[in-house]
Amino acid sequence: MRHPLVMGNWKLNGSQQLTADLINGLRDALADVQGCKVVIAPPALYLTQAVAAVEGSEIGVGAQNIDVNLSGAFTGETSAEMLKDIGVRYVILGHSERRTYHHESDELVAKKFAIMKQQGLIPVLCIGETEAENEAGKTEEVCARQIDAVITAQGVDAFKDAVIAYEPVWAIGTGKSATPAQAQAVHKFIREHIAKQNSDVAQQVIIQYGGSVNDKNAAELFGQPDIDGALVGGASLKADAFSVIVKAAA
Ligand code: G3H
Repeated sequence: MRHPLVMGNWKLNGSQQLTADLINGLRDALADVQGCKVVIAPPALYLTQAVAAVEGSEIGVGAQNIDVNLSGAFTGETSAEMLKDIGVRYVILGHSERRTYHHESDELVAKKFAIMKQQGLIPVLCIGETEAENEAGKTEEVCARQIDAVITAQGVDAFKDAVIAYEPVWAIGTGKSATPAQAQAVHKFIREHIAKQNSDVAQQVIIQYGGSVNDKNAAELFGQPDIDGALVGGASLKADAFSVIVKAAA
């Protein structure tokens, strides 16, 4: 039995004030919600504040990226060990914005995934095709390739207690979400692809949808059998909209 996970990716947005206000708002709005795990991923600078602010609630805290190294001469980076040290449990890996703007390859993302598993953290592996790949009919090929980079390096067991976020790049921040049927078809493909290696792992892995999820479209997306919650960008910056999304998954 999979429990949905709704995660808010704040991206490069926030301040101390917003972190305090948003977490207070979520604590109030979600106090009675059960059946859906909630995680927020603020920018690295506000993680310590967020960990303190969620204390005593069911809200978890995640980071948006890690370095592939645990320590050393890597100026400007944050390591899995440091995140664990301050109480962060989840990390978003391979988001399309990092693949595009920071040239992260499938292999680099797979290495980060391995570091996280070694450290006992939960990776949220983002995969998904661009608009051009979608139009060329390559959606399944791209998703399989991004998943196989992890399986090849670490075996399918790496996906035990891990999370996959299917985020079609053309749906991110565009207001143009995949339809529930479109998303379900890809989620089903992802689960079946993993099941070819290990059906137990496939049944257990959380597969979130991401890309213009909002308080209006969430319920229908979550009604699909292979959609286990969402990775939410823009709508995660407003406590009221994010709470509606969480409640739709619970
Ligand atoms: O990580 C979140 C996704 O990139 C989705 O962003 O909800 O603003 O489209 P969005």
